[in-house]
Amino acid sequence: MNSGKKILVTGGAGYIGSHTVVSLIENGYTPVIVDDFRNAQSSVIEQLEAITNQKIKLHRVDCCDSQAMNTVFEAEKPNGVIHFAAYKAVNESVEKPLEYYKNNLQSLLVVLELYQKHKVQSLVFSSSCTVYGEPKGKIEVDESFPIEKAFSPYGQTKIICEQIIQDFHHSQPDSKIISLRYFNPVGAHASALIGEYPIGKPNNLLPYITQTAIGKLKQLTVFGNDYATSDGTCVRDYIHVCDLADAHVQAISFLEKETNGVLEAVNIGTGKGTSVQEIIETFETETGVSLNYTIGPRRAGDVEAIYANTSKSEKILQWKAKRSLKDSVCSAWNWEKNIKKNGY
Ligand code: UFG
Repeated sequence: MNSGKKILVTGGAGYIGSHTVVSLIENGYTPVIVDDFRNAQSSVIEQLEAITNQKIKLHRVDCCDSQAMNTVFEAEKPNGVIHFAAYKAVNESVEKPLEYYKNNLQSLLVVLELYQKHKVQSLVFSSSCTVYGEPKGKIEVDESFPIEKAFSPYGQTKIICEQIIQDFHHSQPDSKIISLRYFNPVGAHASALIGEYPIGKPNNLLPYITQTAIGKLKQLTVFGNDYATSDGTCVRDYIHVCDLADAHVQAISFLEKETNGVLEAVNIGTGKGTSVQEIIETFETETGVSLNYTIGPRRAGDVEAIYANTSKSEKILQWKAKRSLKDSVCSAWNWEKNIKKNGY
C-alpha cells in the first residue's frame, strides 16, 4: 500500500485505462482520468464508481491540447502519469496515417513536456508488441529483439514514441520511465461493468467472437489455417486486461522505488502462445455456446506466431499474469451479455 499518491491516467476511460484505474484504487493510489471520450463511453465513469465505491476524478480534455493539459497538471500536481491516450486500430491507421501520427505523437510530446515542467516522478507509456514486427525465426520475443519496422502506421507510432522517450531520457537522465509492450489484451473486469467496447465492427478476435455468439455479427472468419503452427491458425499471447492493469501499478511502484533515473521497456504477456482455433474451442467449452465460424484467407500483415518472453517483467516488476485463458474468455462473454442486457 502507499499513501494515496496521485496518478494521472490519460485515456483512463478506455479499455485498458479503465481497468487500470480500478487496479490503482485497489492498491491505494488516487487516479485522475484525463479523457475526451472520443473512443470511450461516458457511462464508464459511473461503472468505475460502482466498482470502486468512490468518486472518480475526471478532466474532459484532449491530450494534444497542451494548454488544457498544462492546466490539468497545475491543478492536480500528479506524482505519476500513465499515458494510454492514443489511436489503436491497425486497419484504420493504414487509411488515416496522418491522423495516427498527429494524435499519437503530439499527445506523447505534450505529456513529456509537462512531465518535465511539473517535475512528475514517474511515467508509464502504453506500447505494444507490434514494435517487434514479424519476429523472424523466433516466436518467443524478449525485449532485446531488434526493433526495425512495424507493419502499420499504428505500429510505427509506437516505435517512434519509444524513440522519442529514449531521446527525452537521454537529455533528462533523472527521468523515470517505463514503456510496457502489451501483447494481446483480452477479457473484462469480473463485475462485467467495464470491458472492451469497440466502436463499429471489431477488428480484434475476442470481441468478434463474443459479438458473433450474441448475434450482433453473423459469422466469424478465421483468417487462415495454413500457417506453420500446430493447428494451422495464428498464435498470439492473450493477456487478461486485469493482469495487464496490475502490471501498470507494479510499473508505477517500481519507478517510485528507484532513486536514480531509469528507462525500461518491458513485455507484458503470459509467456504462452494460443492459437485462434484454441481460443474458439475454449470459448465454446467454457460458455456452452456454439460459434458460427468459417475458415477464410489469411489477413494481410498478420504475424504467424508471437508470444512474450516474460523474464524481465517477473524480474524488475515482480509481476506475472495470474488469470487463465478461461477467465479471459468467460469475463469477455459476461461483459458482452451485460452490454446486451443493460445497453451500455
Ligand atoms: N483473427 C481472426 N478473425 C478475426 C479477427 C482476428 O481470425 O475476425 C485472428 C487474426 O488473424 C490473428 C488473431 O486472430 O491471428 C488475433 O488478431 P487480433 O486482430 O485480435 O490481434 P493482432 O495480434 O492482429 O493485433 C494485436 C493488437 C494490435 C497490435 C498487435 C501487435 O490488436 O493493436 O496485436 O502484434 F498492434
